[in-house]
Amino acid sequence: MRIDIISVVPDLLKSPFEASILRRAIEKNLVEICFHNLRDYTTSSYKQIDDYQYGGGAGMVMMVEPIDKCISKLQSERNYDEVIYLTPDGEVLNQSISNQLSLKGNIIMLCGHYKGVDQRVRDLFITKEISIGDYVLSGGELAAAVLCDSIIRLIPGVLGNETSALTDAFQDNLLSPPIYTRPSTYKNLKVPEVLLSGHQKKIDDWRDEQALQRTKDRRPDLLED
Ligand code: ADE
Repeated sequence: MRIDIISVVPDLLKSPFEASILRRAIEKNLVEICFHNLRDYTTSSYKQIDDYQYGGGAGMVMMVEPIDKCISKLQSERNYDEVIYLTPDGEVLNQSISNQLSLKGNIIMLCGHYKGVDQRVRDLFITKEISIGDYVLSGGELAAAVLCDSIIRLIPGVLGNETSALTDAFQDNLLSPPIYTRPSTYKNLKVPEVLLSGHQKKIDDWRDEQALQRTKDRRPDLLED
C-alpha cells in the first residue's frame, strides 16, 4: 500500500511513522508513506496557499490551484483508489471504514487547515470525506495520522501475531473483555479463576460474555445495528 499525504505542515505528522509498529511496517515495505508540502505547488512568489472567503467571514480558505496541482501530479503518476479529505464534517471513522481502506492499493489523504478547502477541491477530487470524531482539530494532520495507524495495523504482516487485529475491539462490534497478566494476585485483586483454568472453551465463553456485558454497559449503541 502507498499513502500520499498532502499538507501545509507535513512535519506535524512525521513522528508517528518514525517509531514502533508504523515504522516497522515501512521498513518491511508493507506500506510506503509519502509527504507532500502544498507550498511546493504554489505559483505565487509568496507561496500563498490560502485566501479570504468570498462572502466575508473569519478564517482563511485553502485555495484550489495548489491542491489541484499536487493531486493532478500524483494522479498522473499512478492510479489512486481513494482521495480522502480529513474534515470534521466527514463520515465519522469506524473500524469498518478502516477495514475497507486497509484493502486498497494507493490512497491520497488531504489535510485541511484554517477554515478548510475551497468547495471546488471537494467537488473535483475528493472521493471520501472522513472525520475522526465530533470535535475540531487545528488541522487534518493528526486525523490523518490516526487514520493511517488504524489502516496500517490491519495490513497482513504488520502485526506480529496475525490474529491480533482480528480479535481487536470493534472487529465484531463488541468492546474487548478485561485482560490480565502476571501476577495472579495484586493488592488482593485476583485474576478471574476461569482464566487460570487452562480450559480454553470456558475461557472463550467467559471472554464473549464479558465483551457483551461491557458493550451493553458502555456502548449499547454498538449493539443496535
Ligand atoms: N480536521 C479538523 N478536525 C477534524 C476532525 N475531527 N476529523 C478529521 N479532520 C479534522
